[in-house]
Parts: sequence; structure tokens; C-alpha cells
Amino acid sequence: MRIDIITVLPELIHSPLNHSILKRAKEKGLVDIHVHNLRDFTKDNYKTVDDYAFGGEAGMVMKIEPLARAIESLSSQRDYDEIIYTTPDGMPFLQSKANKLSLLKNLIILCGHYKGIDQRIRDHFITMEISIGDYVLSGGELAAAVITDAMVRLIPGVISDETSALTDSFQDNLLAPPVYTRPSEYKGWKVPEILLSGNTKEIEKWRFEQSLERTRKLRPDLLEEEE
Ligand code: 6GU
Repeated sequence: MRIDIITVLPELIHSPLNHSILKRAKEKGLVDIHVHNLRDFTKDNYKTVDDYAFGGEAGMVMKIEPLARAIESLSSQRDYDEIIYTTPDGMPFLQSKANKLSLLKNLIILCGHYKGIDQRIRDHFITMEISIGDYVLSGGELAAAVITDAMVRLIPGVISDETSALTDSFQDNLLAPPVYTRPSEYKGWKVPEILLSGNTKEIEKWRFEQSLERTRKLRPDLLEEEE
């Protein structure tokens, strides 16, 4: 998978994507992430990427020309499956979306900033608008990093234990069950007996019941959704 991220703050994107699983995915050649500074697509001396909003609305708007130039430049080099815009008024980002996106080949993620981007970019270039939750971030960069992380770890071969991504919370609309490691007893706090029994069938059943119980208690809304 190739991901091109267009942003006014490239530094904000680099660090989160260069550790742990994401770092390994890159090293294995399973993902290729290119971060582009929007200012490199400006033509004026001040490298202007924003301007006042028409109609007197407070706050700055990202200008159409540098954005169009950046997207057109990338699109002339390869076909993109989706051109994503990160924005608080986008569709909520869910695990099901991460699953679908992880199967694609070429993606652009455009990070929103200020009051947002000129609507004409949304109308004519953007194919998908994503929000990572109902709160407002200073910019779309952290959202782009979140989306990238969630997608990349699902690319086949990225996580060595193939089954481990499948047992994550949300993968089947259930929260994950509790986990334990050694020692089996600490200050009298014991690991549930069943996990030490070696009875894989019973353990599997226990895990499922725990998942269900946790979900009922903490996120009953997930059980109602049933896609
Ligand atoms: Cl994608 N961008 C910004 N600026 N804020 C957000 C968001 C995105 N998702 C939730 N809040």
C-alpha cells in the first residue's frame, strides 16, 4: 500500500508513524508512506496556503490552488483508490472502514487545517471525508496518523501473529477480553483458574463470555448496532 499525506505540518505526521508496528510495516516494504508539505505546492514568495473566508466568517480557509496542484501532481503519477480528507464534519472512522481501506493500493490523505479547505476541493477531488470522533482537533494531522495506524496494522503480513488483529476490540463489534501474564499470583491477586487449565475449548468460551460481559457493561451501544 502507498499512502501520500498532504499537510502543512509534516513533522506532526512523521513521529507517530515511525515506531512499533508501523515502523516494521515500512521496513518489510508492506507500506510506503510519503509526506508532502503543502507549502511546496505554492508559487508565491510567502508560500501562502490559507486566506480569509469569503462572506466574513472568522478564521482562515485553505486555498484552492496549492491543494489542487498537490493532488493533481500526485494523481498524474498513479491512480488513487481514494482521496481522503480529514475533517470533524466527516463520516465517523470505524474498524469496518479501517478493514476496507487496508485492502487498497494507493491513497491520498489530505489533512484539514484552520477553518477547513475551500469547498471546491471537496466537491471536485475528495472521495471520502473522515472524522475520528466528535471533538475538535487543531488539525487533521493526528487524525491522519490515527487512520494510517489503524489501516496499516491490518495489511496482511504486518502483524506476525496473523490471528492477533482478528481478536482486537471492535473487530467483531465486541470489546476484547481481559489478558494476564506471569506471575500467576501477585500479592494474592490470582489469574482466573480457567486460563491455567490448558483446556483451549473452555478458554475460548470463557474469553467470548468475558468479551460479551465487558461490552454489555461498558459499550452496550455496540451490541445494538449489529451491522
Ligand atoms: Cl479528522 N480533524 C480535526 N481537525 N478534528 C477532528 C477530526 C479531524 N476528527 C475528530 N476531530
